[in-house]
Amino acid sequence: MAEIQLRDITKRWGSFFGVKDLNLTIADREFLVLLGPSGCGKTTTMRMIAGLEDATDGDIMIGGQRVNDLDPKDRDIAMVFQSYALYPNMNVYENIRFPLKVRKIPGAEHDERVKRAADMVELGEFMHRKPSELSGGQRQRVALARAIVREPNVFLMDEPLSNLDAKLRVSTRAQIKNLSHELKVTTIYVTHDQIEAMTLADRVVVMERGLVQQVGTPTEIYDHPANTFVASFIGSPAMNLMQGTGTGGVFEGANVRIAGLTGPDGPVTLGFRAEDAAVGGGAEITAPVYTLELLGDATMVTVKAGGALVSVKAPKDFRAEIGDEVAISIPAGICHLFDAQTGARLETA
Ligand SMILES: Nc1ncnc2c1ncn2[C@@H]1O[C@H](COP(=O)(O)OP(=O)(O)O)[C@@H](O)[C@H]1O
Ligand SMILES: [Mg+2]
Repeated sequence: MAEIQLRDITKRWGSFFGVKDLNLTIADREFLVLLGPSGCGKTTTMRMIAGLEDATDGDIMIGGQRVNDLDPKDRDIAMVFQSYALYPNMNVYENIRFPLKVRKIPGAEHDERVKRAADMVELGEFMHRKPSELSGGQRQRVALARAIVREPNVFLMDEPLSNLDAKLRVSTRAQIKNLSHELKVTTIYVTHDQIEAMTLADRVVVMERGLVQQVGTPTEIYDHPANTFVASFIGSPAMNLMQGTGTGGVFEGANVRIAGLTGPDGPVTLGFRAEDAAVGGGAEITAPVYTLELLGDATMVTVKAGGALVSVKAPKDFRAEIGDEVAISIPAGICHLFDAQTGARLETA
């Protein structure tokens, strides 16, 4: 049983806050992803949970026990980092076995546990190789196996895929997802990659500048972003955002007019996703094509409406020339509204 509670966690260096007033409960066996741009405080949060960094303020609870004053080795946590940090002179078997030796686990158990961990990450055939004889993906899997072999209460993973090439990242991501389903261990996973977050997480914590912006399931943060930061960070492409003015349920901005909205009068930021709009139809936007991208299963059409670039997903056989005027339909029902000043989501009735 390893529920983790972070109560008002703050990390401050002088007057700079790396993490500020973080409150979060991570359920036993949950897979939680910390997501945000570089420098937002993800690694700092992780290092405080691991005990590698002291929290300036707040309580860190693991399994109901306050662990702020416990050494990292006493927290029953296994970590996997971006750099694999394998021992170059040890073969795969000995690298995976190392934590068992350090922890003085009875030798009779080693062989079975090492083999089981290696099999889980499909390294069974490579036991006698040195790290230098492995690919990057295989090395990262050794690091995973070395974490698994300990059977810890908590896994912390900090950008474990970021040294892998794009294809390997996708396959290793799938393996981590499958592994976490089998192991059922509380996991905190750090990434700046929103696709990794969306595909792996039970819940995502979106951070920016040391502050939590939103906590929710992937579906919640995708469908109901709490503010324009989350809206523009999640999704590929990001949510389209346009400045304009609401008047009696009509939104108007440069090259755009949408009727039938429920929102306040005055300046407002409108948002909608590329796949929710369509080319043709209601012509809420009419603007010249800025670029056209063939995605295979669809064609992404980007137009320039006033100062804003707006992307719409069109059928895969849609074609147009750059500069052609196209009409885009944006039904009121797919629109999100945000406060023009603060960026906070406005709940539309
Ligand atoms: N030891 C330190 N002293 C001062 N500032 C630090 C220290 N470690 C990290 N920071 C700063 O704290 C912020 C958060 O860092 P970090 O948690 O590593 O971000 P992330 O992992 O999200 O990229 C960054 O602005 C970073 O420069
Ligand atoms: Mg980091």
